[in-house]
Amino acid sequence: MDEKSVDLFAHKSKSWDMNSKRVKNARSIAGLIVKNIKLSREMELMDFGAGTGLLSFFIAPFVKKIVAVDNSPSMLMEFQNKCNEFKCETEVIEKDLSKESLERKFDGILSSMTIHHLEDTATLFRKFYEMLNDGGFIAIADLDSEDGSFHSDNTGVFHYGFDRKELESLAQEAGFKEISFDTASTIVKPHREFTVFLMSAVK
Ligand SMILES: C[S@@+](CC[C@H](N)C(=O)[O-])C[C@H]1O[C@@H](n2cnc3c(N)ncnc32)[C@H](O)[C@@H]1O
Repeated sequence: MDEKSVDLFAHKSKSWDMNSKRVKNARSIAGLIVKNIKLSREMELMDFGAGTGLLSFFIAPFVKKIVAVDNSPSMLMEFQNKCNEFKCETEVIEKDLSKESLERKFDGILSSMTIHHLEDTATLFRKFYEMLNDGGFIAIADLDSEDGSFHSDNTGVFHYGFDRKELESLAQEAGFKEISFDTASTIVKPHREFTVFLMSAVK
């Protein structure tokens, strides 16, 4: 992390996994990924914005390795603390993909509840495309368009969810094929419900 960057998740990292709604959401997203995408024990995946590893944990039994990429040292510390509970190899890379690139290739890229934190989705999708082996996949989960009331504090939130059609166009422009959407889960908050989509596509 460079000196000017702020770890926006520092105050949340320790208690992140204690929120049962988050765990349930990650389990639902993982269940849909396993159902929709043919995973194998030879695959090396990146979990972008892996955080403490909620999604990685549920995907781990189906792949060889998961590389957790995140710009929050505190979230990655929690990921690392439970590394021996993951049923696959793991690696942690601290990186801000809105500012930098990562010169690595993966068989697939996972991401859960992260892309709304990056302003330029088109550039992110182009980076994902570059980081995939031929035939590799993306499986990206995030909120459907919402009214800005999902987060109690919108610091670091650049998108109030996403319109599926707009996201599909951005993925197409980046070169992705076989783009499809499913509803992965519904997060129930006291004031309203929020749906979470899973977008899958292939290079
Ligand atoms: C809402 S959390 C989701 C964490 C995890 N995927 C989950 O579902 O529990 C968003 C994560 O994205 C990370 N993140 C936000 N902006 C990022 C960026 N520009 N580059 C890398 N990681 C980022 C945050 O540090 C945080 O860990």
